[in-house]
Amino acid sequence: MKETWWKEAVVYQIYPRSFMDSNGDGIGDLGGIIRKLDYLKELGVNVIWLSPIYRSPNDDNGYDISDYCEIMEEFGTMEEFDRLLKAMHERGLKLMMDLVVNHTSDEHPWFQAALKDKNSPYRDYYFFRDGKPGGLPPNNWCSHFGFSAWEKEPEGEQYFLHLYTKKQPDLNWDNPSVREEVYRIMQFWTDKGIDGFRMDVINYISKAAELPDMPEDGPHLATPYFANGPHVHEYLQEMNRRILSQRDFITVGEMVSVTTDQARLYTHEDRHELNMVFTFEHMYLDAVGEDKWQIRQWKLSELKAVFGKWQTSLADGCWNSLYLNNHDQARMVSRFGDDGKYRVESAKMLATFLHTLQGTPYIYQGEELGMTNIRFGSIDQYKDIDTLNHYAEAVTVFHEDPKRVMEAIYAKGRDNARTPMQWDASPNAGFTDAVPWIPVNPNYTEINAEAAIRDTESIYHYYQDLIRIRRHHKVVVYGDYNPVCEEHPSIYAYTRRYQGQMLLVVLNFFSDPAVIDLPKACLPENGVRLIGNYEDAPACEVHMKLRAFEAVAFLGGDGGEQIMI
Ligand code: GLC
Ligand code: CA
Repeated sequence: MKETWWKEAVVYQIYPRSFMDSNGDGIGDLGGIIRKLDYLKELGVNVIWLSPIYRSPNDDNGYDISDYCEIMEEFGTMEEFDRLLKAMHERGLKLMMDLVVNHTSDEHPWFQAALKDKNSPYRDYYFFRDGKPGGLPPNNWCSHFGFSAWEKEPEGEQYFLHLYTKKQPDLNWDNPSVREEVYRIMQFWTDKGIDGFRMDVINYISKAAELPDMPEDGPHLATPYFANGPHVHEYLQEMNRRILSQRDFITVGEMVSVTTDQARLYTHEDRHELNMVFTFEHMYLDAVGEDKWQIRQWKLSELKAVFGKWQTSLADGCWNSLYLNNHDQARMVSRFGDDGKYRVESAKMLATFLHTLQGTPYIYQGEELGMTNIRFGSIDQYKDIDTLNHYAEAVTVFHEDPKRVMEAIYAKGRDNARTPMQWDASPNAGFTDAVPWIPVNPNYTEINAEAAIRDTESIYHYYQDLIRIRRHHKVVVYGDYNPVCEEHPSIYAYTRRYQGQMLLVVLNFFSDPAVIDLPKACLPENGVRLIGNYEDAPACEVHMKLRAFEAVAFLGGDGGEQIMI
């Protein structure tokens, strides 16, 4: 196992629009982030991943970029960015930028030039195709945000491809000039001194040559034809040679639809592509297939199977990223824990889980406070284009019951994660003096950073502890993963071993108390409690009884040769 700084790191994701407003316009900005750097430093994280801050018309909140080398006006200026980066480096914090290059905004000059002139070289930067007879689009693909993946150009006869909104046309990476442009952008930010990239849907950059129809009728998400396509590894290796190899970067590729075998190809250290991927497999545990809006109850057995598979499959030469929420997902405590009576216990339990697996943990802003999902009274209060498109399509095209559609939005809508960061109990949670761009969650009077810092038993302080033990115990970072009592219906337990040390983690995923009888070989020698979410803890013994959402980790010797698990 190669030891590397980014394996030991903890990453904190900032969604700038909702983090902190410094100039009273209701929108978070770079100035706000600068103000809160000491808060992050105090939390103990090492790396900050900034969701996009580039110039953008904000159809998809910055994931639609019209200028990759300018700052979004609402967020500030390039001078402020330079100040932010300097202030971060002064505090020993590293910066990971969001690279969104599967698509641009339709307002990007390349796309505008492509629209204006059919003979423009920029035409081939995108996918323009003729429609099918009868006024049909070129194929039957649908976009991730509902409706067809094709939009007719405003003047002219052809359609262009967009896997997301119609204001996010896909780039044609098979055109070498497109790749050169991307490397130029990456070089620009590299020269500024940033420390890494999070790459948006980066496994979509190589599409099947003929953009074939999906076999069945009706619009489909044509995953087999755009995910992990024929040249994706070639392009990432080229990107690595040209840019990534210049520095000791941290890189993570967001990858919807990726198997562990494919992830090995993307992340194996000998292949020089990326450090890690964000898999979505665990994000579909409560969905029917890959349709996130079709909800089902997640099962612990499946959660164990998915995490276990990723843990073991990437153990040699590869590396996992660990997350349970981000700006696209519901809040983890509402989704996998209990955001009512056991909010604090379950948030700490889930945090223990993420921070004691093998991989690099990612914290999404507010997660360290146990922030919860939101329920707005009506669809008009929602801002997210994905949510709004889904509602429109489900209700008007598929005639679904609006009440049921809203229930799905309450459970899965992306705005759950995008309500403003809850800083204190003052109006608008201390996020802004103005009307926030999206309402704050009314529970901010109770759940906020100021209160959490004051309370030594808070989720916030528990995260501090988790980050601290990671720094002090290599077994937490590098230890292997061995599931224990896998059949247990409500407890998830595993051991980790590294250089003579052993960690035993036992987690009750539910509110009912539960007992477990552990094999003796799983008990660390002279095991002491490393962390736990109750004041006292069960003893490190074979028979263990856990309370509601109880989490406990023991550290000791691995018992040397005699221990076989
Ligand atoms: C990624 C982003 C998401 C965005 C989409 C299109 O999934 O995380 O926020 O909408 O890509 O860029
Ligand atoms: Ca602002």
